[in-house]
Amino acid sequence: MNIYQLKNDIRIQIRKHKEEGKTIGFVATMGYLHEGHLTLVQEAKRQCDLVVMSIFVNPLQFGPSEDFDRYPRDIKRDRQLAEEAGVDYLFLPTVDEMYKEKPTMAIHITQGTDVLCGASRPGHFNGVAMVVMKLFQIIQPDKAFFGLKDAQQVAVIENMVTTFEVPVEVMGVDTVREKDGLAKSSRNVYLTKQERVLAPKLYEALSAVKKKVEQEPESYSRDEIVKVVKNKLEELPLGDIDYVEALPYPSLEINEQLSGKILIALAYKFAKARLIDNVIVSMERRENEHVTHNDESKTS
Ligand code: PAF
Repeated sequence: MNIYQLKNDIRIQIRKHKEEGKTIGFVATMGYLHEGHLTLVQEAKRQCDLVVMSIFVNPLQFGPSEDFDRYPRDIKRDRQLAEEAGVDYLFLPTVDEMYKEKPTMAIHITQGTDVLCGASRPGHFNGVAMVVMKLFQIIQPDKAFFGLKDAQQVAVIENMVTTFEVPVEVMGVDTVREKDGLAKSSRNVYLTKQERVLAPKLYEALSAVKKKVEQEPESYSRDEIVKVVKNKLEELPLGDIDYVEALPYPSLEINEQLSGKILIALAYKFAKARLIDNVIVSMERRENEHVTHNDESKTS
């Protein structure tokens, strides 16, 4: 595994590979790697000739009350995990290197960040977009892989790439789950025994509504979807709903009448762990379902 700290050095190296016709897959991280990151690497390796990973704790995406300095870091362990996972290039810039030229402008996202987790983190996604845009310019990947556990982040990056015509394909990779369906998260260790037994119910609620909406998309508005999920969650004897939302994906623009691809997302607070989860659902009726329906109506 090759390790670079300077923007220009890695840029030159990657450009050489692109000239040889190699495809570049990119996994952007803030380090402290876990199974989710390693799944992204696996997917990138499956789809691309070379995999570049960045580890950079981006100060721009931390709010004043979120402690940038206390974000967990373990570069030695990360280097080993990245190497074992088969990363070809590891980019490890310092904050000074990344923001060497003081930014003279910023990315101001105008849609999709005042909902879901973005509502309680003003400015967070502007900071994410800024660093991801810079990383895309430095690495120039063909495909960039992000976990759908944070579907709002993937949506924001997809919208950024569309808005600025960035020639990168954004690949949302499915959430890694425990056997019982609970989304893997470093926060799961904070669950009590009883909470851990209940936690898979979050994904069960999402999966149940996904099935219903896919079967009968015309019967569900945003309000109804939210109500079905909330009713299920309210049956849980512990914890509180933070939010449940259903939004068009990737625009995330609030709309009562939903169609096409939608994101159904929730955040749920147990005593010491706030868990998030989501599903992406297609509200498009499939062609053959129309045919069957029409045929039935003809004979009845
Ligand atoms: O998801 C993350 O770890 C970060 O938000 C990202 C995409 C690496 C940007 O700093």
